[in-house]
Amino acid sequence: MLKRDRLEPCQFIIFGGTGDLTHRKLIPAFYNLLDQGLLPEKFSIIATGRCVDNQEAYLESLYKSLQKFVEREIKENVWNTLQERIYYKCFDILDEDGYQSLRETLENLGDKCQSKSRRIFYLAVPPRFFGTIVGSLDKYKLLDFSEEFWPRVVIEKPFGYDLKSATELNEQITKVFPEENIYRIDHYLGKEMLQSMMMIRFANLVFEAVWNNKYIDNIQIISNEKVGVGERGGYYEKSGALRDMVQNHMLQILALTAMEAPADMSTESIRTEKIKVLKSLADLDVEKIDSYAIRGQYGVGKIDGEKVTAYQNENNVADDSSTETFVALKLFVDNLRWSGVPFYIKTGKRLHNKVTKVIIEFKSSFHPSYHKEFNGLSPNLLVIKIQPEEGINFEFNAKEPGSKAKIVPVKMDFCQNCQFGFNSPEAYERLIHSVMIGDQTLFTHWDEVEYSWRFVDQIAQAWSENKAELATYPAGSNGPQQAEQLLIDEQRKWWE
Ligand code: BG6
Repeated sequence: MLKRDRLEPCQFIIFGGTGDLTHRKLIPAFYNLLDQGLLPEKFSIIATGRCVDNQEAYLESLYKSLQKFVEREIKENVWNTLQERIYYKCFDILDEDGYQSLRETLENLGDKCQSKSRRIFYLAVPPRFFGTIVGSLDKYKLLDFSEEFWPRVVIEKPFGYDLKSATELNEQITKVFPEENIYRIDHYLGKEMLQSMMMIRFANLVFEAVWNNKYIDNIQIISNEKVGVGERGGYYEKSGALRDMVQNHMLQILALTAMEAPADMSTESIRTEKIKVLKSLADLDVEKIDSYAIRGQYGVGKIDGEKVTAYQNENNVADDSSTETFVALKLFVDNLRWSGVPFYIKTGKRLHNKVTKVIIEFKSSFHPSYHKEFNGLSPNLLVIKIQPEEGINFEFNAKEPGSKAKIVPVKMDFCQNCQFGFNSPEAYERLIHSVMIGDQTLFTHWDEVEYSWRFVDQIAQAWSENKAELATYPAGSNGPQQAEQLLIDEQRKWWE
């Protein structure tokens, strides 16, 4: 990442400054970036939000959040520098006068905070406000698109609710900002191992040579969470796991796993290849949805020994809610490389563990059948561990020491975040830094959003028409039995 002296001065204007994301992710990310010398010499953070605080109380609340969400002890000198650059502004998104006043604030912050500098607008607010904010920024002249200032807008997910609403939203935003200035967040793209995915494939002949339907039996993308919906019931009721996780994070992982080698490592070339994958997702036969898409919802159960409530009893969730908190899918990428290879996706809340990983299962039936010792062997597995552990496992077969010819699976394990002194930056640190230097590689292009929605809409539509069963699973379990069955029916299993 670029160090302080090579970064241009900028102002960050956060909409949603009093919200959860700012407290949990953004301010801790700014703190860590500052600590590592990765913010420009001159910068300011203008946090606009609900009128509940004054400057002092706001800073105090941020400090408490830092203590909670930054893993190391807070360094007072770093915090002191940071707090001098943070301005709290009580703001009502729907009040037009507020934008004029915001413009004046930005212009009068003084030299230290660079009144005349690049402006980065971070929309950490519910999506229904995205269009209003962007339109008002333009109307009240907070944007200067000359080369020197080149404003950027960062948009949190969800980007729309379906293809139609996403298209409308995109039209509103692109009326004001060109695509090059739009940074659509998918925080999974900021995760270390997802960035590493391309390197693992394209920098290693042993992997790239076998990365196709001739050698790969299936690919599994798993993202389990222990947490429930917490206080986000209102949002989650409209979204469910399909829109919350599959449309964005899971399909982005899939695109990175399945893409062809880009012409070079530029943002444009990488995006071009990811877009091709998403465009190649095979159409679904919605009449047979139960045979490839499983949805589930958590009931009561135990997580780490503690009793937890059922989804339907969470705050702001309907007693008879049919929102899914779990999804398992089988899908195909319809191109030459992947023809016939199923991709299995599984994600859910209130499962027994927190883990995100990609498993490449290689074909195991390549031995001549007269080699009876080789019958029924475990397949070779390449496991890319995204979180909490970052690294790679490769599982292969070897002779059990001491035996004559007994073959057992063994594992080569590379743990990246176990290595002494290595500490991967949090996704948000990397994303904020990328916006500052104008690198869009870790953000989704509109075409990616569009093709993802096109695919997901087919399932959402079928589920909304109740074409499929909603299974329940006990909190703390492995998800509904139907998800296990999906693979058992194909003589496969989830490699948890
Ligand atoms: C968010 C979803 O995008 O990702 C949440 O809205 C989910 O529901 C979260 O919990 C998971 O992120 P991570 O980084 O903890 O895997």
